[in-house]
Amino acid sequence: MRRTRARTPVELVAAEPEPEFQLTFDGRPIHGLPGQSIAAALWSAGILTWRTTRVHGRPRGAFCGIGACYDCLATVNGRPNQRACLLPARPGDVITTQEGDGHAALDR
Ligand code: FES
Repeated sequence: MRRTRARTPVELVAAEPEPEFQLTFDGRPIHGLPGQSIAAALWSAGILTWRTTRVHGRPRGAFCGIGACYDCLATVNGRPNQRACLLPARPGDVITTQEGDGHAALDR
């Protein structure tokens, strides 16, 4: 019987991924890959929640992953209410936890 060497998914598709880049979440450096959404970059860093609900302050992260539920809202580069599951991660992005409606910091 002929055995084949186990290959990674990257090898199987002959992908040549571009190098990773850095962004930050609440001041903590994390890594992103070209083509990743912000939600995917956060998940890759082990971060599962990045906002709190308006009324009860409960933690939320991505739920549907396709832009329909709005559970994944985050503040990105100072702009609140950005859907992390749809927004591509870019080098140098500054992502911060969004509390409530995300406008508290704009009142100052
Ligand atoms: S996870 Fe549902 S809109 Fe982003």
